[in-house]
Amino acid sequence: MSRVLVIYKSKYGTTKKYAEMLKGELESSSAGKEIICDITEAEKFDRTVLGAYDTVIFAGAVYAGGISGISMLKKNRDRLKGKRTAVFCVGVSPYDEKALEEVKKRNLDSELRDVPMFYGRGTWDESRMTFRDRIMCRMLQKMVAKQSPEKCEPWMKELLSAVGKKCDWTDRKYLQPLCVYIRQE
Ligand SMILES: Cc1cc2nc3c(=O)[nH]c(=O)nc-3n(C[C@H](O)[C@H](O)[C@H](O)COP(=O)(O)O)c2cc1C
Repeated sequence: MSRVLVIYKSKYGTTKKYAEMLKGELESSSAGKEIICDITEAEKFDRTVLGAYDTVIFAGAVYAGGISGISMLKKNRDRLKGKRTAVFCVGVSPYDEKALEEVKKRNLDSELRDVPMFYGRGTWDESRMTFRDRIMCRMLQKMVAKQSPEKCEPWMKELLSAVGKKCDWTDRKYLQPLCVYIRQE
């Protein structure tokens, strides 16, 4: 039997939804060893429980290029030594290897360089955003709109096409590579 802890930070509930889906996927599959998966919010995370887990996954959404809550992983890197660790990040951008490499470079510094990072598409709903986030998105969208189309990265195009729309791209298919990684012997 193996024990997995998923620590998540989620502002609008999308990353939380992925954390719950991951628990469901890991505990229901009959493939390989039995897995017990616990999930906890980053704010409620108690580091003294880490000893009970073989695998620790941190899940957080991308906000203006930064993975929300990633500092928690940095603060606990010594306690995570010897454990299987990974990051699952969530964003509006379609899957793009180059863009993800940039997110990784920016968020996982030298000591976390070897931590694998996985990605799932999230949601976009301006009607649920805080006033501050709505303003920030408007500013980003205006900035992106001024770029020439050939210089636009995939996430920029997505940001423009999402203006005024309500989008939900969440899909359990994004969890499959992470499930394979967790199940590796
Ligand atoms: C202010 C703001 C900035 C964002 N910046 C990015 C970004 O840089 N890249 C990206 O892919 N998604 C970005 N997003 C989209 C979020 O990552 C997406 O909505 C995600 O589903 C939110 O997850 P959560 O509800 O778990 O916090 C941004 C969203 C907001 C509101």
